[in-house]
Amino acid sequence: MLRRLYHDQPESFAFTPANQAWAEAQITKYPEGRQASAVIPLLWRAQEQEGWLTRPAIEYVADMLGMAYMRALEVATFYFMFQLHPVGSVAHFQICGTLSCMLMGAEDLVAVAKEKIAPAPFQLSADGKFSWEEVECLGSCANAPMAQVGKDYYEDLTTESFASIIDRLSAGEVPVPGPQNGRYAAEPLGGLTSLTDYESGRTQYNASVELATTIGDTVKRIDGNEVPLTTPWLGARKVHVSAHKEPAKPAAKPAAKPAAPKAEAAAPVAQAKPATLAAARDGGADNLKAIKGVGPKLETLLHSLGFFHFDQIAAWTAEEVAWVDENLEGFKGRVSRDGWVDQAKTLAAGGETEFSKKVKKGDVY
Ligand code: FES
Repeated sequence: MLRRLYHDQPESFAFTPANQAWAEAQITKYPEGRQASAVIPLLWRAQEQEGWLTRPAIEYVADMLGMAYMRALEVATFYFMFQLHPVGSVAHFQICGTLSCMLMGAEDLVAVAKEKIAPAPFQLSADGKFSWEEVECLGSCANAPMAQVGKDYYEDLTTESFASIIDRLSAGEVPVPGPQNGRYAAEPLGGLTSLTDYESGRTQYNASVELATTIGDTVKRIDGNEVPLTTPWLGARKVHVSAHKEPAKPAAKPAAKPAAPKAEAAAPVAQAKPATLAAARDGGADNLKAIKGVGPKLETLLHSLGFFHFDQIAAWTAEEVAWVDENLEGFKGRVSRDGWVDQAKTLAAGGETEFSKKVKKGDVY
């Protein structure tokens, strides 16, 4: 299929402040020089925020990652999960039409979509809330037929349950994703035949559904406040948790097991700017690249901030680490993530780390 950018594009794009913080945190997962590896999560986040992927959004993400626009565009046009045209404002259904789902009634689901949403794929419903398309196997064949909305799978569908999901979404509800016929996951329809003791320790929903319902990361638009950052090296100060109201759970289900603990928003860590130098002392700067996690770009950035020597870094307090972590533009959180202070203490005392030995041998490029 030819995938092109939509002819009518908005003027601009910007992440919400919380999504921006989320995106910057994701970038810190990758080593220096490999920031482009974050392109898929960032494009996906932009799509979650806007509903579809606009050209300004693709270019915004490319700018954040220091990529040529064409490189980000190649990714966006290659993967079918990225919607390059406007889709329903509430939900875009991706209905699996491959073998298992076809045998179990995918064509009937498509008929429902044609009747309740729009006659053709990618056509918006009259109220603009919904759209649909048929896709290849989504890997949920044991729960056929199924449809995906954003991150959520609605499985074991019938024409009735699919129609009901559309109606409930239209009414502003978020139906609980997962199997819609009472199954827990992909076990036999008649119940477990082995590993039966597993049943007693499980949560109310299977792992994917439990996560979606617990943290509220569902079909609604993502503004960044729903999901705890999965970047622990940045500290709890970056965690955002909303006052999300969980969707109502069916009364017929077994009593709820203890839900997964929610991340608590911690008090912000105090920051203090460390002492800096206008220039390296006599004898020149230390080779800061001997610290694991510091490459040429970061070394230049550290120099521009007034840090040239191991003993400077070795003396940073927790508050000073927090300040530097926050002020490493494009590399936020690296000091704590890579344990610079401990490394610097060893190097300042004339010792070596495993990494600095490699640097000395020329094994690190
Ligand atoms: S055939 Fe539909 S999920 Fe695999």
